[in-house]
Amino acid sequence: MKEKTTLRVIGLMSGTSCDSIDAALCEVNPDMSCKLIKGINHSYPVHIREMILRAFREEISIKELCQLNFLVGECFAKAANILIEEFGKVDIISSHGQTVYHYPYDEKIDNLSKKSTLQIGEGAIIAERTKCLTISDYRVRDIAAGGQGAPLVCFADEKWFKNSLVQNIGGISNVTVISDNTPTFGFDNGCGNLMIDYCMKKLFQQPYDKDGEIALSGKISESWLDCLLQDEYYYLSPPKTTGREYFNERYIENMLKLAPNDDADIIATLTALTAKSIVQSYERFIFPYVTPERVIIGGGGAYNKAILKFLRRYLPDSIELNTHEDFGISNNYKEAMAFALLGYCAYYGISNNLPECTGATKRIVMGKFSY
Ligand SMILES: Nc1ncnc2c1ncn2[C@@H]1O[C@H](COP(=O)(O)OP(=O)(O)O)[C@@H](O)[C@H]1O
Ligand SMILES: [Mg+2]
Repeated sequence: MKEKTTLRVIGLMSGTSCDSIDAALCEVNPDMSCKLIKGINHSYPVHIREMILRAFREEISIKELCQLNFLVGECFAKAANILIEEFGKVDIISSHGQTVYHYPYDEKIDNLSKKSTLQIGEGAIIAERTKCLTISDYRVRDIAAGGQGAPLVCFADEKWFKNSLVQNIGGISNVTVISDNTPTFGFDNGCGNLMIDYCMKKLFQQPYDKDGEIALSGKISESWLDCLLQDEYYYLSPPKTTGREYFNERYIENMLKLAPNDDADIIATLTALTAKSIVQSYERFIFPYVTPERVIIGGGGAYNKAILKFLRRYLPDSIELNTHEDFGISNNYKEAMAFALLGYCAYYGISNNLPECTGATKRIVMGKFSY
C-alpha cells in the first residue's frame, strides 16, 4: 500500500435540495482530519436545474437522462475548476454526484434484487475537464455489498466527532450516532427541509424560509402535526434511508389536504415536523441504547432558527444543542468535506463504508476511478 501523506482533495456534493453544487477544497491528513481551505456553492444553470427537478418527478425521457448525466458532469467540473483556477491543481476530486433516484428496497424480479441507486454527473467528464484524478459514484458499491448505499457521511462523522448525535438537515434529515458504547450507526430520520421548501415555493414564491422567519411568525397546528407524524416511515427501524421518491410532490399535496388555512401556520407546522420527527426518531431508535452528550446540527437546516428553536423545545434538557460551526466545521460544506475524506480513503484502498450505517454485509472500498 502507498505511504499515506496529506493530499489536496476537492469534495463535490449536491443533495436532494438541489440548491447548489457544494465544492470544498480540503487538505486531508493521514489521521483522517480534514481542513477546509475554501468552499463554494456553485449554482446549476437554470435549465439544467429544471431538468434535474423534472427527473425527480420522473418526467424526463431516457434520452434526457443520458444527456443530463454528462451535463451535470460539466457543471461539477466547472465548480471544481473555479477552485483549481484560484488554488492550482489538486491530487483528487471526489464527487458524490446528484442523486436522481434511490431505491433501497430489496424487491425481487426473476429472483434478483431491484435495490439500486442512481447518482449522475459523469466522472469521466470531471476528470477530463479538470485534468485531475476523479473518484465518483460511491453508493453503488455499498449496495452491491448488500447495503442501502446510504448514509455515507457517517464515516466522516465518526472520525471528526465524539459522543454526539451528528444531525444533518438537508432536503432529507440524517443522523450519525457516535458513542463509546456502540459501533457508529446512523439512518435517515425523514424529510428535512423538503416539505418546507416545497410550501415556501407554493405559498410564498420563495425557495426556502430564510432563517425560519415565516415559521417563527406562524402557529403550530398540533392536530395536523400529529397527523403528519403518523407516516409509516417514522416507525421503520434502522437501517433505513429515504429520498424524494417517497417525500415527493404527490405526497406533500396529499398531506396539504388537511393543512390549516393560514400559510404561515403551514410553514410553522412543517418546521415543527422536521424537528419533532428527528427527536422522535432519537426516542425510538437511539435513546434506548445511547445517552448522547449533545446533538450537533449541520446542513442548510442549521441556518433555520425555527428548526433550532423547536429542536431545543423537543429535546431533553440534559442534551446540549450545537451546530457544526461550534466545532469549527462549516455547516454548509461538511458533506462535501466528508466526500473529500471518502475520496482520500478510496485513493489509498482504505474501506470507507460503515456496515452499521448502510446495512452492508462487509466493509468495502467505495468509489470509481477516472484517471
Ligand atoms: N438561511 C437559511 N434559512 C433557512 N433555511 C436555509 C437557510 N440556508 C439553507 N437553508 C435550507 O437548507 C437547504 C439546503 O440544505 P443542504 O444542506 O444544502 O441540503 P441538500 O444536501 O439536500 O442539498 C435549503 O433548501 C433550505 O431549505
Ligand atoms: Mg445542498
